[in-house]
Amino acid sequence: MEDEATREAVESALAKLDLDAKARLLQGQDMWTLPALPEIGLGSLVMSDGPVGVRGVFWGPDDPSILLPSPTAMAATWDPELIARAGVLLAQEARRKGVHLLLAPTVNMHRTPVGGRHFEAYSEDPLLTGAIGSGYVHGVQSGGVGATVKHFVANDAETDRMSVDNIVSPEALREIYLAPFEAIVRDACPWAIMSAYNGVNGTTMSEHTELLRGVLRDEWGFDGIVVSDWMGTRSTVGAITGGLDVAMPGPQSVYGELLVKAVQNGEVDESVVDEAVRHVLLLAARVGLLEGAPAAVAEFPAVVDGREIAREIARRSFVLARNAEVDHTPVLPITPAESTVALIGLAARDARVLGGGSAMVFPETVVSPLDGLTAALPEGTLSYHVGTVLSEDMGVADRGFTLRARCLATDGSLQRELPMADGNIMWMGNLPEGVDYPSLQTIEILGTFTPELSGPHRFGTKGIGQFTLTVDGETVFEGEQTLESFDPFEMLFGSPKDRAVVELEAGRPVEVALRYEPMKMEGSPIAIVSFGLGHLEPQRDPEELMAEAEAAAAQADVAVVVVATTDKVESEGFDRTTLALPGRQDELVSRVVAANPRTVVIVNSGAPVEMPWRDDVAAVLLSWFPGQEAGSALAEVLTGAAEPGGRLPTTWPATLADCPVTEVTPTDGKLVYTEDLFIGYHAWDRSDIAPAYSFGHGLGYTTWEYEEVDWDGEAVTVRVRNTGSRPGREVVQVYLAPVDGDPSRPARALAGFASIEAAAGETVTATVTLPKRAFEVWEEASRTWAYRPGAYDLTVGGSSADRPLTLPIEAAV
Ligand code: BGC
Repeated sequence: MEDEATREAVESALAKLDLDAKARLLQGQDMWTLPALPEIGLGSLVMSDGPVGVRGVFWGPDDPSILLPSPTAMAATWDPELIARAGVLLAQEARRKGVHLLLAPTVNMHRTPVGGRHFEAYSEDPLLTGAIGSGYVHGVQSGGVGATVKHFVANDAETDRMSVDNIVSPEALREIYLAPFEAIVRDACPWAIMSAYNGVNGTTMSEHTELLRGVLRDEWGFDGIVVSDWMGTRSTVGAITGGLDVAMPGPQSVYGELLVKAVQNGEVDESVVDEAVRHVLLLAARVGLLEGAPAAVAEFPAVVDGREIAREIARRSFVLARNAEVDHTPVLPITPAESTVALIGLAARDARVLGGGSAMVFPETVVSPLDGLTAALPEGTLSYHVGTVLSEDMGVADRGFTLRARCLATDGSLQRELPMADGNIMWMGNLPEGVDYPSLQTIEILGTFTPELSGPHRFGTKGIGQFTLTVDGETVFEGEQTLESFDPFEMLFGSPKDRAVVELEAGRPVEVALRYEPMKMEGSPIAIVSFGLGHLEPQRDPEELMAEAEAAAAQADVAVVVVATTDKVESEGFDRTTLALPGRQDELVSRVVAANPRTVVIVNSGAPVEMPWRDDVAAVLLSWFPGQEAGSALAEVLTGAAEPGGRLPTTWPATLADCPVTEVTPTDGKLVYTEDLFIGYHAWDRSDIAPAYSFGHGLGYTTWEYEEVDWDGEAVTVRVRNTGSRPGREVVQVYLAPVDGDPSRPARALAGFASIEAAAGETVTATVTLPKRAFEVWEEASRTWAYRPGAYDLTVGGSSADRPLTLPIEAAV
């Protein structure tokens, strides 16, 4: 616990609460908040997702947030200090929105690239995950806002995530899956941890006494709150005795009245409830919500420019995987005044800036690659071509639509009118101010649509309830969508249903209106309004689109193709079944490179994809989900104004079939982590198959020579020289391999890393301190970390596959 004043304030507040109030405080009063208890001077604690922005309590664009690059991108910077600055920005956003607890970071592991939320986690390596996560938590909390490290533990895939029991050996659990949580608790003292939906080794995580109480609190000394994942609790007694402090959301959960009854029945001792309340009060004190207790941070650190940091992280995260020479010069960077550029790909115009699910936030603006390059390149040197569509499914109305929503009560009075960023409404729990759920009768989406193309436009509806759709003055659909089979994910994130086709003329604006009467879920404790207007523009002949892109590529000096995944590929809620790019994008790349050898491919995905053409194209730049400043960062990097600074935080396989771990579907409710300690580069190291790009790989615009490595018993010093003609930044990686190591264990592991910057020709020294843990393994028999003295090989380089220097060392007994 903290200082005396805080301790006293917490104890005196606790002493004033009766059982009823305590039990109320331990559950949500709604989707995102805990109740205020004015009788003890306690304000209401507000929570919000994370991790790439702060959505706030509404799911919608009316209170936008800065959108940072995906967590995979953050990890690709290999720079905990930069990510700490991102954390300060997030705290600033949280404070602006009245949020006290951010539901981030996600530090589950990249066990396999098919994991649907891969984009939302950092890395396949626990050391890197822990370092980036610690930076993030430290930054957020230095702004006086709590961070919630999630999902504790082993929520590494989405299939049956509510019920799956992950069977993990004690060694893998400690050394891989718990390791980042442990590092973050030790180094950054998070104020909250979120328990996972899944079970581990037979016990569901919201009731896992051994891990929540034994490991997290008793062993590691965690003093924050343990909050459940949303609707991730199973039983009252199991949760409270297991160590879960707060059940979310509310107002109906396993706590509240049920907890009162459990105490009254004698199933739970009130002291156990008190302990949980103490944790909540301490958190409230830290964030400044408890009268009489000083907030942990009295003054906010310096104001952070959100757009600038979003751009900095994006360019520092882009991984230049390949940059081949064409006519004796690397194809990147492009010299703007000397080159004409054909920009190709739907995602160049409609950038995929973030992954799907609870991690979604609504940015005020998005700079697409097309916007960014248009601004950066001299007029008349850039042309744009779609090339191919990614999917022929109807999407939500967006391009060309200007829409607003009107909420009407049963008596026809207007409750609220709001602007909309696109045709989608998704309100859960907290409705916009002025909207009263019980009396809400109708919502209208109204506005104009100006088509870009003449021809048959398809319109659709999304959601459950009664719809009337009017386009250009004509009612084109009237009908009801009933609850066929209830799948909440489908309802919230599914595709719209095709309802009508209307011939429209390019450039002529038409009025559109979708009138909706929601079907309210009787008995649902949470108010949910989720519906939308769908649209699909006339589909151009696919051959014609490809041919146009090929012709443009042939004429330009450089072709830049942006390929991407879609929200049907990378999202919370489901795992991936393929790593292939959707649609005909592979064919597009192959045809473009056949037309122009100077082809640069930008891969806009949060996680690995297959790139069968990767050795044929001149350059491959992995841009992750780059956040709202996607295009401005990309323009800086392509034109050489900045270096692409990223290194892979996870191995990119050539094909899914090559991947060491692909199984995410449980059998009889159990998913056995049969690979044990061998995920990521540990597994690739022992396989005969080479990946497309190794862990740690990434090029810049200069070259490096690793000259010398030394070790003084604690720190490794590495002398590197910039042998190119530009200044640059290198991530020096240190791997440690026991000589004659146990063959049932990975041959070597990342033991530390450091970034250095050097001017052309300059020699600099990187210093990497090796933690004691690098020489330890988990010994289950004694339930301790066992130090392993003796002979090791220290290998050093710019990626796990390229380690030019080796130093034999002896770890002291
Ligand atoms: C996710 C959490 C998230 C929560 C609240 C859950 O579905 O697993 O990561 O914080 O929803 O949105």
